[in-house]
Amino acid sequence: MRLILLGAPGAGKGTQANYIKEKFGIPQISTGDMLRAAVKAGSPLGVEAKRYMDAGELVPDALIINLVKERLLEADCKNGYLFDGFPRTLPQAEAMKEAGVAIDYVLEIDVPFDEIIVRMSGRRTHPQSGRTYHVKFNPPKVEGQDDVTGEPLIQREDDKEETVKKRLDVYVAQTKPLVDYYQQWAQRGVENGLSAPQYRRISGLGSVDEIRQRVFDALK
Ligand code: AP5
Ligand code: ZN
Repeated sequence: MRLILLGAPGAGKGTQANYIKEKFGIPQISTGDMLRAAVKAGSPLGVEAKRYMDAGELVPDALIINLVKERLLEADCKNGYLFDGFPRTLPQAEAMKEAGVAIDYVLEIDVPFDEIIVRMSGRRTHPQSGRTYHVKFNPPKVEGQDDVTGEPLIQREDDKEETVKKRLDVYVAQTKPLVDYYQQWAQRGVENGLSAPQYRRISGLGSVDEIRQRVFDALK
């Protein structure tokens, strides 16, 4: 299984990615998690990426494309992969097509923006694993602690309301065009030796469990 999870910031990509990767036994490639790890480690990539992320802007394509290409060389990607938060610009999508990276499904999770603002303000994250919770809608078993490790949860720097609004604007301008890009490719068929991915859109409104069921149904 090789798939792309597409959706606005806060649509629930990371939440559902956790279930998908377990069910299909594939690695989750979240460029956001990888960048946050680089920021934490203080690597040159992290230093460069931090100012874009804190501003709610996208990190330059060349850096992201390199990061993903290197990640795909690792052995655990042999039997599939789940892209979470990537690609999110047309050049990133084109770069994957040119590199011959096959995709079976593009799964779009659709959530209205007013609901997204509510979700982001209550989000808590376990930075080491990328697991996310919501204080009200998806609380951890023990308040403030990760379910698996018991380590403390944090609030992401870019989840301030102003930054969330900026991220939603960036999504509309730069990532939303991928919806048409993949749907049009699906109509054209094979390109650069790659079959077009199947396009699926589901509503991301409802409980986490309801959406998980929708995700699994869409990938049958
Ligand atoms: P990234 O980490 O990818 O952030 P994002 O796309 O903005 O998405 P989020 O992680 O905010 O949301 P999500 O859809 O995963 O939602 P979640 O499951 O957590 O990117 C961060 C930054 O890195 C970017 O701004 C950019 O600077 C940079 N970057 C990353 N990739 C890049 C790329 N490819 N190119 C350039 N720059 C890049 O859920 C959200 C909340 O809702 C949680 O609290 C959750 O518990 C809750 N929730 C989930 N489902 C439900 C539900 N059904 N009901 C109620 N609450 C729910
Ligand atoms: Zn995420």
